[in-house]
Amino acid sequence: ANELKISPSLLSADFGNLKADLDKINQSEADWLHIDIMDGVFVPNISFGFPVLKYVAELCQKPLDVHLMIVQPEKFIKEVKDLGTMMMNVHFETCPHLHRVVQQIKEAGMKAGVTLNPSTPVSMLADIITEVDMVLLMSVNPGFGGQKFIPHTLNKVKELRELIARTGSHALIEVDGGVNLETGALLADAGADVLVAGNAVFKAPDMIDMIHQLKQLKK
Ligand code: DX5
Ligand code: ZN
Repeated sequence: ANELKISPSLLSADFGNLKADLDKINQSEADWLHIDIMDGVFVPNISFGFPVLKYVAELCQKPLDVHLMIVQPEKFIKEVKDLGTMMMNVHFETCPHLHRVVQQIKEAGMKAGVTLNPSTPVSMLADIITEVDMVLLMSVNPGFGGQKFIPHTLNKVKELRELIARTGSHALIEVDGGVNLETGALLADAGADVLVAGNAVFKAPDMIDMIHQLKQLKK
């Protein structure tokens, strides 16, 4: 299969020294940079907004993988696009008109990702899977970095792999939450294409080496 992609999650970066961390990401084998936007409504935390991300986008040379944990994410398609975003991920649970939002993201010139909370079944995507570029499976309840991986996610990766094969969808499978070398190996075996890693990367003694090790997990 294709090589495993790694998307380090900015949420775990050192915000007092963001440029140093972003320089390391630029030097590393990271494929993308994962950016978590939270609103304190859909999830019980607030992260960072567009005035900060404007500078992150300027300093980062990797494609941006933006994960919106906000209600009505369609309101911000233009702002997300203006950052230079490659992939815009919205939550299934925040979009009653998901098909429309996916079309709007693609019309804006970005790839469209749909995110599922741990309690939302993969089967909910049956009627949209051929339209999306990626499915982001949450392996923790969204809102915070450094949480414990929910093992049932491995079954969801396998089920999603089957749905994608059956429908001829080209969607990538990304997994977010509690990913480290151990859970990452299990996810790669189960069929994940992209791993998000926050604490595992940014709290590692050697970030560049940790990203290198994560890249090797796919057999
Ligand atoms: C959680 C975020 C994640 C988070 C992952 O709501 O979506 O991207 O930063 O952090 P770790 O890898 O530390 O679980
Ligand atoms: Zn995320």
